[in-house]
Amino acid sequence: MKLTGNTILITGGGSGIGRGLAEAFHTLGNTVIVAGRRRQVLEETTSANPGMRSAQLDIESAKSIRAFAATMAKEYPALNVVIHNAGIMRPENLLEQAEELRDAEAIITTNLLGPIRLTAALLPQLKKQPAATIMTVSSGLAYLPMALTPTYCATKAAIHSYSMTLRYQLRGTKVDVLELVPPYVQTELMGSRQANDPRAMPLKDYIAETMKILKEQPQAKEILVQRVLPLRFAEKNGDVYEAFQGFNEAMAAGH
Ligand SMILES: NC(=O)c1ccc[n+]([C@@H]2O[C@H](COP(=O)([O-])OP(=O)(O)OC[C@H]3O[C@@H](n4cnc5c(N)ncnc54)[C@H](OP(=O)(O)O)[C@@H]3O)[C@@H](O)[C@H]2O)c1
Repeated sequence: MKLTGNTILITGGGSGIGRGLAEAFHTLGNTVIVAGRRRQVLEETTSANPGMRSAQLDIESAKSIRAFAATMAKEYPALNVVIHNAGIMRPENLLEQAEELRDAEAIITTNLLGPIRLTAALLPQLKKQPAATIMTVSSGLAYLPMALTPTYCATKAAIHSYSMTLRYQLRGTKVDVLELVPPYVQTELMGSRQANDPRAMPLKDYIAETMKILKEQPQAKEILVQRVLPLRFAEKNGDVYEAFQGFNEAMAAGH
């Protein structure tokens, strides 16, 4: 994708990776709209970045997505990039689950159905643009799951699969599909401990390396920073079940 002159919608753009990307694209001269549920978080982000726009969105609600896409088309007719960054991650003990499976349903609705619904709602507008990009956000855990967060990892594996088929079906259009594959990054995705965990990649470094890849490797379909490569290519690099075992034992031991 070109890195300037776009109109970019970033879901979950008020915090973490979404905010980091929003600020980087804003600095490069794009019109950036950050979206999410918490108004205060969005306002903090836009007031720290004059000219940045915001819009409230609850990606768990199908109705809200349809209304949101209609507003976007009206207010931002030049919208040509969507970054499906909003996501939640919760631990689940599969041996002791409440009957309603509330966490599993919320994770699937937010991380998987959300991007699918928003893509469907925005596609008519994106197809009209001279060049457009849909950027999905999966995870290194799509490729080597962390046992503590089963449904989360499953949604991210599904996002990878969906990104491939979406890219294929859109091959005759001007809409590109990119998949961002973050490693473990210092954000509050799993609470405030993650934001200070020395094992996680500092957010600034992650954003800087991501923007460098977008600039220097315009043909890349997946945006892979160095840190995510062992997870992304775990299948290729040996026995994936051994890698899975070792990875999860190390995580449980706090390494
Ligand atoms: N950090 C990591 O280690 C890591 C690794 C791999 C992948 N990722 C992925 O990167 C993305 C960003 O996560 P992050 O690490 O930056 O965590 P984060 O700071 O918690 O960001 C998640 C964002 O999603 C938004 N969101 C959650 N539920 C939503 C809903 N129902 N409707 C609209 N927005 C919603 C949140 O805003 P509101 O609460 O205000 O709605 C928040 O801004 C996620 O997709 C995550 O899975 C992160």
